[in-house]
Amino acid sequence: MLRIVVLNPKGGSGKTTLATGLAAMYAARGLRTVLMDFDPQGSSMRWLEKRPPERPAVAGIAAYTRNLAVTRSFQLRIPPGTDRVIVDTPAALEPLKFHEHVRDADVVLVPVLPSDIDIHACSRCIGHLLIEGKVKRRENRLGVVATRVKPNTIIFRTLMKFLDQLQIPVITTLRDAQCYVHAAEMGLGVHDMKPEPVRPELTQWEMLYDWIESRVPSTEADPAPLERSQGS
Ligand SMILES: Nc1ncnc2c1ncn2[C@@H]1O[C@H](COP(=O)(O)OP(=O)(O)OP(=O)(O)O)[C@@H](O)[C@H]1O
Ligand SMILES: [Mg+2]
Repeated sequence: MLRIVVLNPKGGSGKTTLATGLAAMYAARGLRTVLMDFDPQGSSMRWLEKRPPERPAVAGIAAYTRNLAVTRSFQLRIPPGTDRVIVDTPAALEPLKFHEHVRDADVVLVPVLPSDIDIHACSRCIGHLLIEGKVKRRENRLGVVATRVKPNTIIFRTLMKFLDQLQIPVITTLRDAQCYVHAAEMGLGVHDMKPEPVRPELTQWEMLYDWIESRVPSTEADPAPLERSQGS
């Protein structure tokens, strides 16, 4: 089992979009996927409620209903045989709580928008993950996802330059695209959509998939190829 935590205390940085998108991607690949929501707003759980039953199944755990101490025993509620656990975290998460959220994580993803405010917030978030969160650079489990990107803009170039200086890998960039707004409304991910119109998006998610999966011990079985389980 691989545990992927999506974290950035900056509100509206794209955490839920990334977490639900990952859940849809893994489900489309035929992996047994659990989406765990620590945000009291319950956005990921709402997405799950809207998810059409004919789409590949994602199991949900509304972790925000318990405190973290209790939540550790919650691990027992992760269905046996689960392959991937995706964790969505709330806005304004205090740095002192970072460690509790990331200590069991195989992968920690920080989504960041190309905006001046978000760039500064991201810098603080990475700093807190390294110090309070006790994530070590050499563990190579921390990555950034640039999101809501408009390519060929100055602010996007500024973001990429900033991320380069941080020396934390930028795993992929997700475009600012209407399909994500549509996906949020419908309980879908881009992997549930007709592939042709979202081909550029699928390529961007593929990079994320490859990076995450390169962290999996090689003994795990190879999941089903993507196209086979894709919806229409
Ligand atoms: N790549 C994208 N393209 C277009 N819209 C996007 C993209 N990513 C996220 N959004 C939109 O941006 C808004 C904020 O995204 P999201 O809810 O994922 O952020 P969040 O970090 O989970 O917010 P919160 O901190 O409130 O939990 C949503 O309306 C979402 O649909
Ligand atoms: Mg959210």
